[in-house]
Amino acid sequence: MDVCVVGTGYVGLVTGTCLAYLGHAVTAIDSDQRKIDLLNAGGCPIFEPGLRELLARARKQGSLRFSSDLARGVASAEVVFIAVGTPPQPSGDPDLSAVEAVARGIGAALDPGRLRVIVNKSTVPIGSGNWVAMLVEEGIASTVVVPAGKGSGVLVEGPPELPFLVASNPEFLREGSAIADTLYPDRIVLGAQDSRAIGILRQLYAPILEQTFRAPEGVASRPEAFGAVPLVTTDLASAEMIKYAANAFLATKISFINEVSNLCEKVGADVVEVARGIGLDGRIGHRFLDAGLGWGGSCFRKDVSALMAISREYGYQTRLLNATLEVNEAQRQTVITKLQEALKILKGKVVGLLGLAFKPNTDDLRDAPSVDIARALLKMGARVKAFDPVAMKVCQDLHPDLDVHYAEDGVDLAWGCDAVVVVTEWPEFRQLDLEMVRKAMRGDVLIDGRNLFEPESARQAGFHYVGIGR
Ligand SMILES: NC(=O)c1ccc[n+]([C@@H]2O[C@H](COP(=O)([O-])OP(=O)(O)OC[C@H]3O[C@@H](n4cnc5c(N)ncnc54)[C@H](O)[C@@H]3O)[C@@H](O)[C@H]2O)c1
Repeated sequence: MDVCVVGTGYVGLVTGTCLAYLGHAVTAIDSDQRKIDLLNAGGCPIFEPGLRELLARARKQGSLRFSSDLARGVASAEVVFIAVGTPPQPSGDPDLSAVEAVARGIGAALDPGRLRVIVNKSTVPIGSGNWVAMLVEEGIASTVVVPAGKGSGVLVEGPPELPFLVASNPEFLREGSAIADTLYPDRIVLGAQDSRAIGILRQLYAPILEQTFRAPEGVASRPEAFGAVPLVTTDLASAEMIKYAANAFLATKISFINEVSNLCEKVGADVVEVARGIGLDGRIGHRFLDAGLGWGGSCFRKDVSALMAISREYGYQTRLLNATLEVNEAQRQTVITKLQEALKILKGKVVGLLGLAFKPNTDDLRDAPSVDIARALLKMGARVKAFDPVAMKVCQDLHPDLDVHYAEDGVDLAWGCDAVVVVTEWPEFRQLDLEMVRKAMRGDVLIDGRNLFEPESARQAGFHYVGIGR
């Protein structure tokens, strides 16, 4: 099918590349001309495992092109995805200005002769499907030339059949495993008022739903015994709510285990053991049950806050979601408290942050705990060093004011530090020679913000080890 994906960020670029790999003809659009130039020059603007390789294959197949011209992408497309950012505003409401601009732009570019589906993949407040339909209609109206004396607007001769249908197709990919999540999802959710939209999208996703495509070996192999993908077809509002409810639940699950971890510290229990013990219960499950210094990333805070903002519009108070955010805020502060307990005075001390990205396998720093922790330490008069396998360049670009010394590797980071804090659970950090790290340091404090190391081995390496909830 002929597909247009608007927005080439973490979601749009992965979606477009995977659809192109599956054989669809994809035009990926972005208003950021530098991004488009980079993509057209064979580059990749983000770090996502396997993306470069899959992009190369799609380019070779000739099924993927990039442009900043929205009208060019929309012209022949049967399906247009809106995958632009919806960043949070101070009020908690997401900023929908990019969605608005794109919806109007799609309307202005639509050729009324053919039906197509406009799909909201961006995470948008409940009701946005109807809002996008209205904006597209206004976009169409803006291009209609009304003959003199015929009134104003497209509805002069009664409502014509609109040349588009709107659907919601929330995205559940996780940065760091985005390609596998797209090709082998737990489910695909489609919401629409009109069953024709569902039919067209079912056809688009058929290779994934039925798993009929050849897996891109070496990039994202098909998990063992992976079968047909469940398809959830529903109305627009429910599809939009599914996305918010999923993220709110996951954030709450982590905040829950963090709350338990704080209690574990009081009573002398080990939260890692507790999580193992409760996670084996099929009703609870072990995933998203790792205590630590809290969640970050572009989605959880934004989506929980957006759900709270929607609730306020209806006069409903979300007690549980307030607590989810509160616990997470406190959890970031825990690192500072633990450092104060171990080092007493932070002024003049050197603290090394092991990891900057909000989670492993990504260079995304949006709402990353590392940045908050670094700022708090600097404010308190400490010197801060940092090492991350991929996110240091992004950190330098995004936070040029952050007075952090960037290290070359884990041991270089440790050099001269009074304390090292594990901020991101990069798997390679587990391979660090703890004795070498300890020897390079001036002090002996290891604050393991992700419970990455076994307390006993860290102690044997000479550390004063402090985990979370252990
Ligand atoms: N990142 C994730 O893990 C993830 C997962 C699920 C859902 N989502 C949701 O998907 C949406 C996109 O997220 P993302 O992380 O890919 O964002 P992003 O910021 O990485 O990418 C957004 C892209 O849209 C482009 N853009 C902005 N305005 C535009 C316009 N008017 N026309 C064309 N392009 C425009 C930007 O230049 C940017 O490249 C958000 O609503 C987000 O909540 C994200």
